[in-house]
Amino acid sequence: MAEIRVRDRWGSRIGVILAVAGSAVGLGNFLRFPGNAAQNGGGAFMLPYFISLLVLGLPMCWAEWTMGRYAGVRGFNSAPAIYTVIWRNRISKYFGSLAILIPLVIYMYYVLIEAWCLGYAIKYLTGALMLGPEPSEYGKFFGDFVGIESDGALLAEGNRSLLVILVIVFACNFVLIYRGVNKGIETFCKIAMPALIVLGLVVLIRVLTLGTPDPSRPDQSVLGGLGFMWNPHPDRLFDFQTWLAASGQVFFSLSVGFGIIVNYSSYLSRDDDVALSGLTSSSMNEFFEVCLGGLITVPAAFIFLGMAAGDFTGSTFALGFQALPNVFALMPAGQFFGFLWFFMLFVAAITSSVSMLQPVIAFLEEGFGLKRHASAALLGLVSAIGCGFVLYFSKNLVALDMMDFWVGSVALFVLAMIQSFLYAWMFGIKRGHEELHRGAHIRIPWAVQWVMKYVVPLYLLVIFVGFCYQRLPSSDQQEFKSPLAQASTLVEGALPEWLRTEFTEQELVLPEDATLQAGAHRTADGGWRIVNAQRHLLYRLVPENGQWEVKSRQVGYVESISRNAVALLSVLFISVLFLFVLVLVHIAGRRWQAEGRFDNIPD
Ligand code: ALA
Repeated sequence: MAEIRVRDRWGSRIGVILAVAGSAVGLGNFLRFPGNAAQNGGGAFMLPYFISLLVLGLPMCWAEWTMGRYAGVRGFNSAPAIYTVIWRNRISKYFGSLAILIPLVIYMYYVLIEAWCLGYAIKYLTGALMLGPEPSEYGKFFGDFVGIESDGALLAEGNRSLLVILVIVFACNFVLIYRGVNKGIETFCKIAMPALIVLGLVVLIRVLTLGTPDPSRPDQSVLGGLGFMWNPHPDRLFDFQTWLAASGQVFFSLSVGFGIIVNYSSYLSRDDDVALSGLTSSSMNEFFEVCLGGLITVPAAFIFLGMAAGDFTGSTFALGFQALPNVFALMPAGQFFGFLWFFMLFVAAITSSVSMLQPVIAFLEEGFGLKRHASAALLGLVSAIGCGFVLYFSKNLVALDMMDFWVGSVALFVLAMIQSFLYAWMFGIKRGHEELHRGAHIRIPWAVQWVMKYVVPLYLLVIFVGFCYQRLPSSDQQEFKSPLAQASTLVEGALPEWLRTEFTEQELVLPEDATLQAGAHRTADGGWRIVNAQRHLLYRLVPENGQWEVKSRQVGYVESISRNAVALLSVLFISVLFLFVLVLVHIAGRRWQAEGRFDNIPD
């Protein structure tokens, strides 16, 4: 079969591997992974993590490489067109809308976090982040820097420094994308990835040679830190949440289910290897994730903060942007290492964010025949609107959190399911196996195809259903049981001091303005409710066999949308954007049909 000429091509094999690895290695490796692992069983997390990697991550990664190259050499680069080549059906292109929406929306918030990283690196250079040993200072600094207090805070006069940095970061991304796959992305990744390894190793060596900085606290040592992160808690293996977190982490980290790898591999030539390249880029990602991400963040926080480090592991951002600056303040040459750390995060993030733009650019060029400058300008406009949305609605990072959940988590699962269906059931595993081995430098066992056909869809389905079941509805979580001896004295209104003390002893958070509700609001079981100032339920006190059960309210995503106007607006924004992309795909499809682009495509 004669190869069809496409506009852009990778220049070298190592170039494409580094570009795919660049897309994979990002904030997910350094911020999301350590928090996830520490929170979900430490060393025990690695079992579901490696199972997800072997059963879902790697096979899906190979499937994306294979489908992308197959369609690419037939002259197609965008997901709607690639899926149509894989499954010659009128509806396939609409599946591709998701592979445009996902990178586009993730870019909108990812680039903002990228700007935080560059901003923090600059603040270290100027010394503005050396705030002393008081941990709360770093929380306050972060809150002010990202506008956590109120919407619109980052646009207020005198507080626009993040906006300026964001514009610079945006421009860097678009310069790279404008220069194209080979001259922009590949050239940059060939420099950035080795630089990342060096930066990562320097920071790692610094952390592993810290010893026991405070001799009066001998447990706060490197070994203690590694133990804090990695000592296994096997009980967590029986918690469904651990398995969810592990597979979600694998997808996000490998950039699988993003629509990126199918696009990147479409710029390969017919006999370029995909089997070893897929394995190499994934292994590189794992090196960054487990060896660098897993050994730096949490151990460093523990060495200086002790058990208090645990307060930060629950939040991706708290760990990177609050705990670590606190650590750098206490560490010798902390200012230098603080700069290095945030600059490294910035470099890791930009090689990922640029990969989120390319699938959209490819679609605009292929679907509408736009030239590079026109497609970049259009994409610049749409992504700037979305990014402006996240920047403006900065209060408690609700908009960012909503986009990360609905698109950065839920939609990834959905697209992964679609791709496994297209590859294994429509393209066929026999053809897939042959295609994967064209020009391959290694042989992949046939069992992987079998896994793709049966295990992956089933695994994904179970995880997806479990994910929705656990995270969408609100639920009550049992916290502690107590005699609450003075319960009969409870009255509506302010909480009595003895009740607050009970909560403090259990290390449960109770806001100052929390109040008790009874009477008309009293729960059917005769208990009490503790609500916050907005009258949202925080805890229930339920009488049970002569004792009181205290249950906390875990707010599910559906309730959080109905509670908060910005959350609702964010979901609306994503839906409207999805509709817009669907319409674009429909129009592109009609053009392709009129041009007869899918007629006579060789098998
Ligand atoms: N794969 C990218 C990351 O880990 C998106 O950050």
